[in-house]
Amino acid sequence: MNIKTISRPGSPKSYMTCHEDPETLHIGTLESHAYFIPFAKGQDAFAEREESALFELLNGEWDFDYYNSIIDMPDDFIKQGRGRIPVPSNWQLHGFDKAQYTNINFPLPYDPPYVPDDIPVGVYGTDYQYSSNGMRRILCFEGVDSCLYLYINGQFAGYSQVSHHTSEFDITDLLHEGTNRITAAVLKWCDGTYLEDQDKFRLSGIFRDVYMLSRLENRLENYRITADDQGRLAVCATGAAAKLRLYDKDRLISEGEVSEENSFETTVENAKLWSAESPYLYRLEIETDNELIGERVGFRKVEITNGIFKLNGRHIKLLGVNRHDSYPDTGYYADREKMRRDLTLMKRHNINAVRTSHYPNAPEFYAMCDELGLYVIDEADLETHGCVNVYNDLKWSRENSYNGIALIAKDPMFKTAILDRERLLVSRDINRPCVLMWSLGNESGWGENMREGAKLIKSLDSTRPVHYESTHRLDDTSDDVLDMVSEMYTSTEDIRKFLDREDEKRPFILCEYCHAMGNGPGDLEDYFEVFSSSDRLIGGLVWEWADHAVILGYTEDGKPKYGYGGDSGERHDDGNFCMDALCYPDRTPHTGLLEVGQVYRPVRVTKGSTADSFIINSQLRFIDAGEYLSCKWEITSSDGKMSEGEFNFSVPPMGSSEIVIPEVSGSFEKDSYIRFIFTAKNGYSVFADGEEICFEQIKIFTSQKAISPTNGKTPEYTETPLEYTITAGDKRYIFNRRTAQFDGIFKGDKNILARPMQYNFFRAPVDNDTMKQDWYSAHLNDYIIKVYETSISQEQGCVVISTSQSFGWSIHQPFAKMQAVYRIDGSGINVGCEAEFSNKVELLPRFGLRLFVPKDYDDVAYYGYGPYESYIDKHYASYVGLFRADIADMHEDYIRPQENGSHYGCTEMSVSDGATKLTFTQPEGFSFSASQYTQEELAAKRHNFELKKCEHNVICADFKMAGVGSAACGPQLADKYRIPLPKVSGSIRIEIR
Ligand code: GAL
Ligand code: MG
Repeated sequence: MNIKTISRPGSPKSYMTCHEDPETLHIGTLESHAYFIPFAKGQDAFAEREESALFELLNGEWDFDYYNSIIDMPDDFIKQGRGRIPVPSNWQLHGFDKAQYTNINFPLPYDPPYVPDDIPVGVYGTDYQYSSNGMRRILCFEGVDSCLYLYINGQFAGYSQVSHHTSEFDITDLLHEGTNRITAAVLKWCDGTYLEDQDKFRLSGIFRDVYMLSRLENRLENYRITADDQGRLAVCATGAAAKLRLYDKDRLISEGEVSEENSFETTVENAKLWSAESPYLYRLEIETDNELIGERVGFRKVEITNGIFKLNGRHIKLLGVNRHDSYPDTGYYADREKMRRDLTLMKRHNINAVRTSHYPNAPEFYAMCDELGLYVIDEADLETHGCVNVYNDLKWSRENSYNGIALIAKDPMFKTAILDRERLLVSRDINRPCVLMWSLGNESGWGENMREGAKLIKSLDSTRPVHYESTHRLDDTSDDVLDMVSEMYTSTEDIRKFLDREDEKRPFILCEYCHAMGNGPGDLEDYFEVFSSSDRLIGGLVWEWADHAVILGYTEDGKPKYGYGGDSGERHDDGNFCMDALCYPDRTPHTGLLEVGQVYRPVRVTKGSTADSFIINSQLRFIDAGEYLSCKWEITSSDGKMSEGEFNFSVPPMGSSEIVIPEVSGSFEKDSYIRFIFTAKNGYSVFADGEEICFEQIKIFTSQKAISPTNGKTPEYTETPLEYTITAGDKRYIFNRRTAQFDGIFKGDKNILARPMQYNFFRAPVDNDTMKQDWYSAHLNDYIIKVYETSISQEQGCVVISTSQSFGWSIHQPFAKMQAVYRIDGSGINVGCEAEFSNKVELLPRFGLRLFVPKDYDDVAYYGYGPYESYIDKHYASYVGLFRADIADMHEDYIRPQENGSHYGCTEMSVSDGATKLTFTQPEGFSFSASQYTQEELAAKRHNFELKKCEHNVICADFKMAGVGSAACGPQLADKYRIPLPKVSGSIRIEIR
């Protein structure tokens, strides 16, 4: 609908003609430039920006009117006063409109440059006090989704789009002395919406800080700083001339002047270089006639030589994460505290890189990355992957010339807008040392517009390489303007194949990998190994940092009820695909983040040249790990700690050093381990001195595995056609011949089994269990048992029950046939079984026993991988040790409930009610979980807050448990983490004490 035809000529509304015009992106805005905030002379220009006398933060409660449709918005919408809203925020989180979570699919019909007629609009208003003092007033919006029309005192002042970029309006000429009205009409959709199809909750409004700058007409407009690894500093500027003073801490080391005509150049002797490991920053003071600007300068050089990505002349690995601006309480708004919390948490988990997926973050984010030491892949506000689904019955093909994801990348209509986004990215962040590369955007295909975008970036900045993943050269257009090959979710085998390619000389980066959805990822270490295998590999960034959620309400104990796609009544949604991260929405680490912290650790230890020596290998590139880390060690077995010690060491960057621990050559009886625990010293990274950073556990002694003994007097048994009863002292076992299950395990007159002991083949699918439909169609979760035969006999020291049975359902043949033998002695049962699975089961989640025990069996002890949940492919944050836990604390509370809390590599586990203890042992190792929830309950519920506890405690003793992998958006679970089929055997000893 043409707004002009429905509005009074000259009315504020009649100016709304830009949002469906792809050539009109900004009206009345200043030219984009490097981010800086001027301070008044005499001020500390390095203070927080709110301290500046020239800066007024306009955040706060603003007037707010919401219209479901721009058509129904009155001509005089400027006069408002119905509601209030905090600025910054997203209006969907304040009762207006509703949040929609969609990943690929566009939230509107694909009809560019048009958007639906009924565009929701939020009209924001606030008063501004002005008294003229010869200074211009520049109104800055750091982020508005999707576009804004600005009015000052009812007069049209400008228009701007590109949600994640600063729009600056010089509004001075529209101001009068005293109270002035600022009105921003924000539209939910504009033609830019097609370029902002990022995988996130689609939220609207003024979502970043708004402020006013007071500056002279004749002012410093822009400047560019380059500082390299030779200590060379160059500054060029436009606008007013400035004096420059460079300080190392408080020491003035160089000074000079810069003007449009003359740039400033100086060389710092023995400059301390900037890196993530040692983020050393110099201070540059820029002084004009009335302003002082504080810049932090990092000397560093990024280059790619011979296919190797380097910082300061050394190859570095990016061990990173992808981060979205997403918070359940404030939506897209990250204040400084939230940014710092995220970045500090990354550093605490040894993450050294962050990709601002898939748009630039707020400017202050980069200053923090400079300071804390994080490498940034700075990405333009661009993603158009919805193009793959826009034609109802057309799939991409060369013949029909529908190029799928590249539709927009090739469409001349969007060329101006795409180039605008690339320019905005580079011009704002060009001075930040943390930015190591520019990224053209995400999943927008490859075509002329993207090629031109890459060329534009190169013309603006020759000091950083250009990254882009979505080339998929469907029409063979060369992507040689890109400096590296980027892929996502590539398997480790395919990365190895890349290294063999003769035709490709560029380095390789995995801009997304290890999709961290739900319980996972399970392949971090495998990727680390590949990354380490070649300097051609730049490394990778885990998808993604934090789960996106909306708050649906609160539980009785005041905890937020987190919702995901489909919980807000969306027209269409992508479910819980937004809960795919290393942190819960409130930034509590998932166990996946703990895995990251351990896999990305700065030092690793391997066995040395002699039996008692070890080698410390440093992963650090620029600093001596020994200068910042101390090491404690301990030798343990299932009996606990046997010896311990500590030492200091020195190891050059990327080097190694050998240490000797004589205690390792002592004599051991049981499986024994040494664990090296590294703690921080001398202010390492964000860690407090003495805090643990990482560890390494190495097995130093493997004992002979004893066959489980049979204990005590030979039990007695009686049999009926339906039941065997076995008595051993005060213990009694009831074996049901009809189901081939133990119905009762009695100690005295108390039955420990609240339900019959079952074979268990199912787990509540984790998000990565993409084959879960096969499990349901085979009915692994609710099988019918057929018993072919049961027999009982007495042998030396025990009673032996043998069975032959199968498990199946309707329609198909049984999915498994099994032979089992139970040897019952004076103190327990040795279970042994062998099953053969039909080809209906391609990937078996687990194979083991499930026991329901009374609620008061809640005290769990185990010897195996703990204290965190652990799986065959996800146990790096855990180590082998003796752990004890209350069953209530063994649940990992995934927002979409799923299998959790397993412990891998256990040789013993027990659960006790204080009087009686049920113990499982298997010297070869097994997995177990102890939970208050059944797998059926975990599988059935959409949200954690809907979970109901089982009336019994559920103990799963798994002979085998499959890995968790990262298949939700990555390669299928590797063979080595699967349960080998079709034949699987299991054995375990169950004791009752
Ligand atoms: C990738 C995409 C990300 C995210 C992820 C799935 O293809 O680049 O933005 O959508 O898939 O979680
Ligand atoms: Mg995507």
